Amino acid sequence: MLFDQPAAGNPIDNGTVVGRPVLRIDGPLKVSGAARYAFERNDAVTNPAYGFVLGAGVAKGRVRAIDAAATRAAPGVLAVVTTLDHAPLSRADLSAAMLFGGDMIEHYHQAIAVVVAETFEQARAASRLLKVDYEREDGRFVLAAEAGNAKPAPDRENGGPDAPDVDRVGDFEAAFQQAAVTIDSTYTTPHESHAQMEPHATVAAWEGDRLTVWTANQMVNWAIRDLPRALSMGQDKVRVVSPYIGGGFGAKLFIRSDVVLAALAAKAAGRPVKLALQRALIFNNGTHRSATIQRVRLAARADGVLTGISHRGLSGNLPLGGAEMATSQTKILYAAPNREIGMTLAAMDLPESNFMRAPGEAPGLMALEVAMDEMAEKLGMDPVEFRVLNDTRVDPHNPSRPFSERHLVECLRTGAARFGWSARRSRPGERREGRWLVGMGVASGIRNAIAMRSGARVRLEASGGLIVETDMTDIGTGTYTIVAQTAAEMLGLTAAEVEVRLGDSNFPRAAGSGGQWGAANATSGVFAACVALRDAIADRLGFPRDRCEFIGGTVRSGNEVVPLQEAARGGGLTGEDSIEFGDLEKRYQQSTFAAQFAEVGVDAFTGEVRLRRMLCVCDVGRILNPATARSQVIGGMTMGLGAALIEELAVDPRRGFFVNHDMAGYEVPVHADIPHLDVVLLDHPDALASPMKAKGIGELGLCGAAPAIANAVYNATGLRVRDYPITLEKHL
Ligand code: MOS
Repeated sequence: MLFDQPAAGNPIDNGTVVGRPVLRIDGPLKVSGAARYAFERNDAVTNPAYGFVLGAGVAKGRVRAIDAAATRAAPGVLAVVTTLDHAPLSRADLSAAMLFGGDMIEHYHQAIAVVVAETFEQARAASRLLKVDYEREDGRFVLAAEAGNAKPAPDRENGGPDAPDVDRVGDFEAAFQQAAVTIDSTYTTPHESHAQMEPHATVAAWEGDRLTVWTANQMVNWAIRDLPRALSMGQDKVRVVSPYIGGGFGAKLFIRSDVVLAALAAKAAGRPVKLALQRALIFNNGTHRSATIQRVRLAARADGVLTGISHRGLSGNLPLGGAEMATSQTKILYAAPNREIGMTLAAMDLPESNFMRAPGEAPGLMALEVAMDEMAEKLGMDPVEFRVLNDTRVDPHNPSRPFSERHLVECLRTGAARFGWSARRSRPGERREGRWLVGMGVASGIRNAIAMRSGARVRLEASGGLIVETDMTDIGTGTYTIVAQTAAEMLGLTAAEVEVRLGDSNFPRAAGSGGQWGAANATSGVFAACVALRDAIADRLGFPRDRCEFIGGTVRSGNEVVPLQEAARGGGLTGEDSIEFGDLEKRYQQSTFAAQFAEVGVDAFTGEVRLRRMLCVCDVGRILNPATARSQVIGGMTMGLGAALIEELAVDPRRGFFVNHDMAGYEVPVHADIPHLDVVLLDHPDALASPMKAKGIGELGLCGAAPAIANAVYNATGLRVRDYPITLEKHL
């Protein structure tokens, strides 16, 4: 089904099931242990062995030799596969890391061997006996030190293959020189880890030349492309199964070393192999979000109208990797006639940086939205009013491109009223409650809505049951539930009457979970498949396709009413289709918007910051399920608190690895850090976004959350900390 015009009225508008707070279908399965995660798939294989991965002990250089004799002789050992036994595997698309093979070491903890044994403990113990002879080279580990070697990182996602190094409109430098009021601030954000609960894990089994992997992967349709290529196999010989995922945040967008090594280990051992990366490898073998250094310059008239915006940023990655596109959202968030916006990228030798929840926007807004706060103060304006004044209705870099829907001003105004913003003191450091300095902050959030092809198959069984199959995944976001709601709405059933099967490469290719594109695209694919099934049912009953209603388990046309179960009696019927979007994204800028409000207390003696309350107002098109949508937003806000106050991967500048590579050293917010979080979901269906009139929400909740907190901290203390995270010693 091609979707490239505004959606007409359709059954989703009925809102009988879609838009209701249906509770997570997978919830009871997960809390009772009935949902099996990848490492738990003992039900799928017999007599599995255990794999243990050894990561390189140097960040850059070469493996001269590996002596595995003692390892092979160790108790229980079934096989050892070392990186010298294999040619370098081809890398996954959009991913820079060498997962395995060859003698070159490109980053610390690059996988160099897998040991297979009867038990996990035996495999781990035997891996300690490997003798690795390295040739160690110096590497580039400190971002600030590499600034001089950085290259432009053009915004290809928004600007296409010919995107300029720097997006320029008008003459920023002239505007900056002539402006009544200017801001010139530099911000730094640290390396951050996804730190997802479930490690990268795979169970791999061979049957002859056919491979099945039960793995934790957000994008089955990328895995089924990249894994066969890495293993030099035909795609038809590989099956990827990923029905439950214990958190991803982008870490599991790509195949990682666990899946290729489980496959190689299973082949070498002649047994199914279970393999999970130990926690330290999550931080140094997996991906992370790159640190950034960002300079924002703003120029404004005395009345607060922005005349110029400059946002220039630097991030780092392995030589083949991409940039953390922290400046891209600045192109479309506020109006201003003179602009220059662009990222640069430094080649480094740290572990791979790659997409992490709200890639680009999350750290980018931590600079831009604090600069906006600084400018509002310098202008003597209220920060909400300053943002409202500089709202834009079109893409300022391409004024013929309007937003499909944009309700940022409503987000800001609704939020200000609900949060009690008028009680904020405009002069910082003036409100004190006992030992606590109290402040309030606001920030805008923006994250694009990305249209992706997505397919599904919907089957009405002869028994009357309805089954949806798609390789779409549920990373804990609620996909099972909103897919069931969509099919139920389309066929006139309840969500409980729909069985949803996800995450299997045998099913039709779907968008997968990433970039907050999953919900809108996957449900639109299910919508398309349901249209096909409705047509098949109408044809069987001899009803006109366009004059059928599916209500309450029946099909109605004119005065005729046929129970769906009766329609199924002649044998099962299947509808299969994909949603495609043509050039819709070229004609309309599709984005989601948020206004984030935070109130913090800062201990006047210790500098400790505590979040007291927070509100996020979201504009994301139709809300498919307010319960799962709210959960996504409060998860994002929680991650925003981590980014503002807590999270930081510490680099060892001599050895080139992240030192705090466990959950004790890499701190993330816990319940005690998070008070009640308030969420308002504006429900403005976006008829230009998808037939569901929905966009996405999974990343938006993070966008603007950290700078709202940072601005609140400043309002409390009067001390502007521009280097994240805002830890207590930076106040002393
Ligand atoms: Mo997201 S960073 O694309 O899982």
